[in-house]
Amino acid sequence: MGDERLLEAARPVAALNTPELRTLVSDMLETMAALKGAGLAAPQIGVGLQVVIFGVAGNPRYPDAETVPDTVLINPELEYLGDEMEDGWEGCLSLPGMRGIVPRHKHLRYRGFDLAGQPIDRTVTGFHARVVQHECDHLNGILYPMRMRDMSLFGFTDVLFPDVAPMEE
Ligand code: NI
Repeated sequence: MGDERLLEAARPVAALNTPELRTLVSDMLETMAALKGAGLAAPQIGVGLQVVIFGVAGNPRYPDAETVPDTVLINPELEYLGDEMEDGWEGCLSLPGMRGIVPRHKHLRYRGFDLAGQPIDRTVTGFHARVVQHECDHLNGILYPMRMRDMSLFGFTDVLFPDVAPMEE
């Protein structure tokens, strides 16, 4: 946080299924795995393209977390379904060691393309919808504290959750 590239709008990917794109996604997957994140957007590694990755499954650190399929999502478009909002804790690899309560749309349809250029079209809810909204916010220069309504619900992870280590997004 503080790097101006995180505040810029990312550009759409012009050509799908290219070696350059595979290299970018491979770098992102490596970074996310090394930092034990739940998701990552290309601007977080300094690349201003509309590429996000996410996935939560079988992580022993979060036995109770809802699972989210491992996904590479390119040129995403979000459509909020209804007005229902839900508060939940979020973290971010660009603000290490912190968490905050963020309101997100509960129901979401998202579309885009996978790494092979195949279309993705999913209607999701809850935590899955939250992760997608968080990652796609990165493509519009938005970090989760900019969505917070109550800054008293923002703090250091080890103070807020001394017994568990919630995931980074
Ligand atoms: Ni993030």
